[in-house]
Amino acid sequence: MENIKVLFDIGYLIAAVGFIVGLRGLSAPATARNGNLMAGAAMIFAVLLTLFTPIEGTPNPSNNYLWIFVGLAIGTGIGLLYATRVAMTAMPELVSLFNGFGGACAIVVSVVEIYGKSAGQVAFSQELTILLTLFIGSVAFTGSLVAYGKLKGSIGDKTIPQIVNTVVVLGIIGMIGYMVMGMDVNMTFVFLLLGISLVYGITFVMPIGGADMPVVISLLNSFTGLTAAMAGIIYDNNIMLLGGILVGSSGTILTILMCEAMNRSLLNVLIGSFGGGGAAASAGSDTGNQVAKPTTANEAAILLFYADNVVLVPGYGLAVAQAQNVCKDLEAVLERNGVNVRYAIHPVAGRMPGHMNVLLAEADVSYDKLMDLEASNEVLPKTDVAIIVGANDVVNPAAKTDPSSPIYGMPILDVEQAKRTIVLKRSMSTGYAGIQNQLFFNENNQMLFGDAKDSIQKLVTEVKNME
Ligand code: TAP
Repeated sequence: MENIKVLFDIGYLIAAVGFIVGLRGLSAPATARNGNLMAGAAMIFAVLLTLFTPIEGTPNPSNNYLWIFVGLAIGTGIGLLYATRVAMTAMPELVSLFNGFGGACAIVVSVVEIYGKSAGQVAFSQELTILLTLFIGSVAFTGSLVAYGKLKGSIGDKTIPQIVNTVVVLGIIGMIGYMVMGMDVNMTFVFLLLGISLVYGITFVMPIGGADMPVVISLLNSFTGLTAAMAGIIYDNNIMLLGGILVGSSGTILTILMCEAMNRSLLNVLIGSFGGGGAAASAGSDTGNQVAKPTTANEAAILLFYADNVVLVPGYGLAVAQAQNVCKDLEAVLERNGVNVRYAIHPVAGRMPGHMNVLLAEADVSYDKLMDLEASNEVLPKTDVAIIVGANDVVNPAAKTDPSSPIYGMPILDVEQAKRTIVLKRSMSTGYAGIQNQLFFNENNQMLFGDAKDSIQKLVTEVKNME
């Protein structure tokens, strides 16, 4: 038995190394695909090891294998079907949904672990861990479902007075404290805690709007990692603990990076005190009687053809239009004619972290052509033409100039510093934050209306005609 245990521990160690090497691979677009495969393979290995680990005092655990493998097959089937069919633009919603299921697992684990136990049967630390897993898992579950609805556009922002959330959190802490201090495993209390925590997940995410959702999404992600780590403690399973810590800590690091990108403090996020909502979102939308200047593909192509430096600024519209390959075509034809082309990438452009990098990597855009926010803002004042491809909030100067704007304070790409800007979008509609963009009305800006992919295709044809 001892020898077999050592073999299983070595297996867990190999899986742990697989997680870490895989995660490391995710840090660069060139290695991300392999990193993902590596972490996925390590996870399958860890799950199989866990299933076949001999348990002392349980001579025949294989009694449950049929149930387990049928469950695994159904879940894997649904996951595969969903993930292969989902459109690239709906990927952020799917990630949010999967994150919610992680929270749901934590709820099931904690209820199963505490169900039927009477006072004195559960140690203080174990009861505290289980109840915290229940609380955080519930918040991750309903919070992720609300985030899913918001990303999909089916749920709008609702104002919820901050005092409500504060009272609910204090109530939850009080309930957990009462239960662990009294060491009384009262199932009525447990289910009450579950219900209130589920509601808190909704009221926590519901008011967050404007452009602040990226922070909340990565925070919910780290919550799920935390619950997995706590489940590892409950089951005394090291690989679950390690996997959870990796997800929780990387989610926390991402949350901090997102906070920096949005110029928000983590405390503000935790108490849910920011977010646009309907009233705030409309604050920056008054554009008076200004009229944006439309242009044609021919006029825009002339500007590009005679430019020395061009910067492409991709946003969510690039993902919707699937315009990444035509961007690469435009880059190629311009560079052939002596134009220096680069890409300015805002950290929250699109709808998920690294969204633009993934799409441009898919089109084989060279990584050294991608500039982060800081580098872009150094280059933009020396740029002849900045082409904004379906971006809106991330180039909205209201973030710098309008204190009443829900995105005020968020660092943006200073495209208005370029000599000329051309915005590619279908209409004058707002972006995710729901606010109008003064950039569109600037003297040096022109609008090329239409689907971004069609417009860029036309630009490529026009530039080729000028060669
Ligand atoms: P947005 O501000 O959402 O603007 C996207 C623009 O693309 C829209 O104004 C839309 O205008 C245009 N568009 C849509 N489909 C198009 C098409 N087929 N062709 C051309 N244009 C099209 O995008 P952004 O500038 O990338 O900013 C991202 C926003 O999402 C931020 O507010 C950010 O906080 C938020 N957010 C980000 C994340 C992450 S982690 N990245 C997660 C959640 C939320 P038309 O309809 O007129 O075409």
